[in-house]
Amino acid sequence: MNHQLIIVLDFGGQYNQLISRRVRDLGVYSEVLPYNTPLEKIKAKNPIGIILTGGPNSVNDQNAPIIGKEIFELGIPILGICYGCQVMAKVLGGEVQPCQTREFGLTDITYENSTLLANMSSKNTCWMSHGDQVSTLPKGFTKTASTSSTPIAAMENADSSLYAVQFHPEVNHTNEGNILLSNFLFNICKANADWKMSSFALDKIKQLKEKIGDKKVICAMSGGVDSSVAAMLLHKAVGKNLTCIFVDHGLLRKDEGDEVEEVFVREFGVNLVRVNAADIFLSKLEEICDPEKKRKIIGEEFIRTFEREAKKLNKVDFLVQGTIYPDVIESGLGNSAVIKSHHNVGGLPDVVDFEEIIEPLRDLFKDEVRRVGLEIGLPEKIVNRQPFPGPGLAIRIIGNITKEKIEMLQQADWILRDEIANSGLDRDLNQYFAVLTDMQSVGVMGDGRTYDYCLALRAVTTTDFMTADWAKIPYDVLNRISNRIINETKHINRIVYDITSKPPATIEWE
Ligand code: XMP
Repeated sequence: MNHQLIIVLDFGGQYNQLISRRVRDLGVYSEVLPYNTPLEKIKAKNPIGIILTGGPNSVNDQNAPIIGKEIFELGIPILGICYGCQVMAKVLGGEVQPCQTREFGLTDITYENSTLLANMSSKNTCWMSHGDQVSTLPKGFTKTASTSSTPIAAMENADSSLYAVQFHPEVNHTNEGNILLSNFLFNICKANADWKMSSFALDKIKQLKEKIGDKKVICAMSGGVDSSVAAMLLHKAVGKNLTCIFVDHGLLRKDEGDEVEEVFVREFGVNLVRVNAADIFLSKLEEICDPEKKRKIIGEEFIRTFEREAKKLNKVDFLVQGTIYPDVIESGLGNSAVIKSHHNVGGLPDVVDFEEIIEPLRDLFKDEVRRVGLEIGLPEKIVNRQPFPGPGLAIRIIGNITKEKIEMLQQADWILRDEIANSGLDRDLNQYFAVLTDMQSVGVMGDGRTYDYCLALRAVTTTDFMTADWAKIPYDVLNRISNRIINETKHINRIVYDITSKPPATIEWE
């Protein structure tokens, strides 16, 4: 079935795919295309609206990504966001200048009367992240919002269906941002909400079936949500032609390897091979402290291990990975800056021994992956598992990795999870874990001096893992966690709680 389409033109910001998924959440199909996609190609797709995204550049830079003014003359409604707002202003004859004070984070804003801002409280808060701003409106435009440092925080030329906002309505922190996007979709683009997530699962299974046919596939399974959903999609598409390879790199959480085997083999009858490769991984990681090197080594070793296992299975044509969108964007694909090279993307070796790597969840965010998981019948206990990074505890041990440190961290992390579950907080927190810092400090235990490790606790609330708040865990729960870890784990004598949000911090420490 042909769905109505919103095109998101990508200028390289961190939230571009997030815009697209917010649109999909509202029931309208959306695709991200590069900003320099030829106009003819855009027209041929017959979009009902276009959104211009944020980006890291200044429109006044010599080589800044920019578009021609013809796109604004198509008569298709356009919404510019952040850099996209500045592009619209500049191309249509307005002016953009550096802000006197950069605005970053939650900001008070006043909205005026506008179809785009209908049904939103006029005194509100939004998420800002910019160093430039529109200083002079293009001809025919009016200002529709302002903040204390940005006099033109939104502008529009309603007669031409052109709208732009300096803030980020797609980010959860922008209060009522979803109302703004709904206004754009349903009141301005006249969308009729003809798309839903179950279409994604059905389309994907069909595509996978067609693509793979009778060929053989192996799936890289970690037991986490992403690879579980990817594996289940594949299972539905090709059944017995799928073999799941579960690499236990020795950097999993306590008892996790056994749990994965139990659930997938016993409950679902998945064809799963467990490879115990801890010794190889640990020897390759010896004395490695740099987080990017850790990721690259683990990524490479993963692939090599799969290749070895695949050879044992005779001919295997495809490798499936559970890569999801935040893995892609934060590894710096497209025009975005590199934040971290997630092991299953940036760490991919150049030479891979399969016909092709398939990543069925590459366009989705974590919560979308969960919805797909439920759609295709995975149980909640798998779908709602908290995320665990591919490189595992390697990126939660700051500095070099040893067997002793892994055991220390596994024990401490298990106590944290146990106490969070005991207090019933596990339903409210989206991710929580312990980090073994490489800082040692003086303590006193019994009557003796200790010089032991400092452990950090991290717990966040988030829906999309692109932005996150640190969780306000009650003191008595923190107290119990701290006491138990000190009493039940050797060589940790100090516990700290991480109270930074994302941004500016990331969720993981490395
Ligand atoms: P950050 O630390 O980037 O984490 O704010 C966002 C989400 O991604 C997970 N994460 C990873 N997942 N490979 C993965 O598969 C990685 O290298 C990786 N690094 C972070 C992190 O646990 C969080 O859920």
